[in-house]
Amino acid sequence: MSAKIIAVVNQKGGAGKTTLTMLLAGSLADRGKRVLVADADAQNTAVHWSGMGGGFPAQVEDVSGEENKLHKALRKRAEEFDYIVIDSPPAASAPVTASALRAAHLALVPVIPSPLDLWASVRIREAIVLARNKNPELEARLVVNQMQPNTVLAREVLAMLPEFGIPMLAASLKSRTAYRQCAALGGSILSLGSRAALAVMEVDALRREVESLLRGR
Ligand SMILES: Nc1ncnc2c1ncn2[C@@H]1O[C@H](COP(=O)(O)OP(=O)(O)O)[C@@H](O)[C@H]1O
Ligand SMILES: [Mg+2]
Repeated sequence: MSAKIIAVVNQKGGAGKTTLTMLLAGSLADRGKRVLVADADAQNTAVHWSGMGGGFPAQVEDVSGEENKLHKALRKRAEEFDYIVIDSPPAASAPVTASALRAAHLALVPVIPSPLDLWASVRIREAIVLARNKNPELEARLVVNQMQPNTVLAREVLAMLPEFGIPMLAASLKSRTAYRQCAALGGSILSLGSRAALAVMEVDALRREVESLLRGR
């Protein structure tokens, strides 16, 4: 079976691309999947995370130099892995982002529920629509990140999301210190142990939803 490819994309810096990439890839790898994180952001945040010595369970490689040939480079690696998760730079029109979207079965767009973040994310929807010219099967989902439930603002912004034109994943990520600790320690969420039980459940739900979206692809 050839790898299922997930591109984590957003025009906006700080939306949670690297966090979502590493939590999802770490969770898949902790469940015994063969996972490659393809770090397509020249800032190499994912590479740094895995280099912190916390035993991150997936393989992480810098692929930012592949530019518009990333889809070809990943196709060659597809038999080695069950999943390839691409972390991308905050640039909707960058060649490497277009190439990531061309390779992907699923695009995940993390969004922080604030109007400013949503407005800044509109360009990525255009990039996804454009990518479907060459990759018509490309699925896309918004992933609400840093969710603050039960606030008026969160409700108002969540009500705006359906207009965005990309369906929302049912699972979301709350704002949690466990996710920052995970990056500081260089591990997966499971490696934080029982102190991160709620975070583990949240990431598990997200992983299961992504796995089921990609089943049969
Ligand atoms: N759900 C979350 N809970 C707590 N902190 C988060 C969460 N998501 C992201 N962060 C923090 O927000 C900052 C930006 O996230 P990051 O994943 O680096 O975004 P991007 O890759 O899109 O620039 C980082 O400091 C990260 O630790
Ligand atoms: Mg990043």
